[in-house]
Amino acid sequence: MNQDKFLEYVQAENKVEPKDVMPDDYRKLLVRQISQHAHSEIVGMLPEANWISRAPTLRRKMALLAKIQDEAGHGLYLYAATETLNNGEIAADRDSTYNDMLSGKAKYSSIFNYPALSWADIGAIGWLVDGAAIMNQVMLMGNSYGPYSRAMVRICKEESFHQRQGYEILMTLCRGTKEQKNLAQEALNRFWWPALMMFGPNDADSPNSQKSMNYRVKRESNDDLRQRFVDVTVSQAEFLGLKIPDENLKWNEETQHYDFGELPWDEFMEVLKGNGPCNKKRLETKRKAQREHSWVKDAAMAYAGKQTN
Ligand code: 3HC
Repeated sequence: MNQDKFLEYVQAENKVEPKDVMPDDYRKLLVRQISQHAHSEIVGMLPEANWISRAPTLRRKMALLAKIQDEAGHGLYLYAATETLNNGEIAADRDSTYNDMLSGKAKYSSIFNYPALSWADIGAIGWLVDGAAIMNQVMLMGNSYGPYSRAMVRICKEESFHQRQGYEILMTLCRGTKEQKNLAQEALNRFWWPALMMFGPNDADSPNSQKSMNYRVKRESNDDLRQRFVDVTVSQAEFLGLKIPDENLKWNEETQHYDFGELPWDEFMEVLKGNGPCNKKRLETKRKAQREHSWVKDAAMAYAGKQTN
């Protein structure tokens, strides 16, 4: 299948399956994005795991445990989807992609390099981080690669539970004491801008978007999804009685959207370079887990009758 024929094929809304012939740069784009998506899911478990033993009630603990287990499952589906792209030339096997994350070569979502400092942060993560992830992942349900688009269907269903349990945590705090409401406001102050950064750089500064759009992987732009997220989230904050930390936030009657301030792009670039508040700690934790628990994988592989390398 030549390049033009392939573009025609995906642009006619056909799905590409693992055994189909595909251009190398389509395959590379997918390995990059899906494996980094998988890394985000499993690194994203770390800030929340810190709060399992400190959840205020048994019910909150059970909901948080269920959410974290879901995230592990999301990572599994996405690593499995990545492996369907492994063709020997472009490394997409589990060890290669996972080691790229451990070495710092591959990225994961910047948001997980921020600390969860209070129980309210766990609410803000569910509400804002999973809320932003849903915005992006609903879009990805329509992407051209079969295994990735099908993984998104299951993941989106579970994400809506994640978002609701986070929002309910904040609703409880906002209806509690003044101190509890302050905790919720501080969490919003800390997570608002990093949540907007999850959608990626502005379209004009996005080197991958055009190709991704041409291949029908990215179906809507970073800026469009960010705008939609702001538009739906402002009224949710108002319902909680919380103030979004952006003095430039203002409804624009003409565009029927909220205008909002410029994101702190320098901070974004620093976090991507590994200089965020928790980058080093997150990778250290994952490397330590790899060192100390690789026997589990060896045992599972031996049991499955395969030899680990
Ligand atoms: N954090 C880290 N890296 C980011 C980023 C972010 N928030 N936004 C962009 N980047 C990186 C990109 O990966 C790319 O670097 P690379 O070429 O080395 O991979 C570079 O910045 C330029 O960005 P582009 O916009 O050109 O890149 P993309 O076209 O890939 O768009 C994206 C970026 C929108 C994040 C896209 O990769 C995507 O949709 N990924 C899948 C969704 C995803 O990964 N979501 C992360 C959250 S998952 C999650 O939150 C778990 C949930 O359960 C809580």
